Amino acid sequence: MKADLRPTAESPRKLEISPMVLDDIPAVLAIEALSFQSTWPANAFVNELRDNKLAYYFVGRLDGRIVAYGGIWVILEDSHVTTIAVHPDVRGQRLGEELLVHLLDEAIERSASWITLEVRESNDVAQKLYRKYGFTVVSTRRGYYSDNNESALVMWAGNLRGTLYANRLAALKAALR
Ligand SMILES: CC(C)(COP(=O)(O)OP(=O)(O)OC[C@H]1O[C@@H](n2cnc3c(N)ncnc32)[C@H](O)[C@@H]1OP(=O)(O)O)[C@@H](O)C(=O)NCCC(=O)NCCS
Repeated sequence: MKADLRPTAESPRKLEISPMVLDDIPAVLAIEALSFQSTWPANAFVNELRDNKLAYYFVGRLDGRIVAYGGIWVILEDSHVTTIAVHPDVRGQRLGEELLVHLLDEAIERSASWITLEVRESNDVAQKLYRKYGFTVVSTRRGYYSDNNESALVMWAGNLRGTLYANRLAALKAALR
């Protein structure tokens, strides 16, 4: 008898991650509008993809449809998560986590030892995800977000290329699989 290999409702769905290209921008903007109070215009993504040699952006697809995206800058040993979002319809399925892992792998592969990001003080979900991956709050930027004057927490994870972080990342990746 053959095993039934069809995915069940419980099967984790694997995100297919690839570098973002200009044609992906409309789908990315649709998720952006559903994800952020203050959104990047199309030309911000165009500039990042076309002109910023330090930028690496990715999209994640489920069944061929773009459902997530994120990006980093890598400047020598330092890296910066510039954005990350998952379509609201598919949140809570570990897709954001998969994408963050991809960004971390990319930063490490490009020789970054440190990674930082800003997150709204009220964004508990994203903060929890970042904490899981070793980010800690290092400072607060008061009134950083001009739309509502909310403060940003600056989070940071370090020694990405050290054994301790490599072990932590490997364990989290194993659990994710
Ligand atoms: C933040 C975001 C990318 C997370 O993506 P997601 O696919 O929904 O999250 P995942 O299913 O991968 O969850 C991974 C971790 O995130 C945290 N998390 C996810 N959903 C959560 C929730 N509803 N409540 C609390 N923590 C949550 C948890 O730490 C979770 O891991 P755990 O369950 O083992 O603790 C997504 O919520 C999003 O797009 N938000 C809007 C845009 C945004 O805020 N981006 C970040 C800007 S700094």
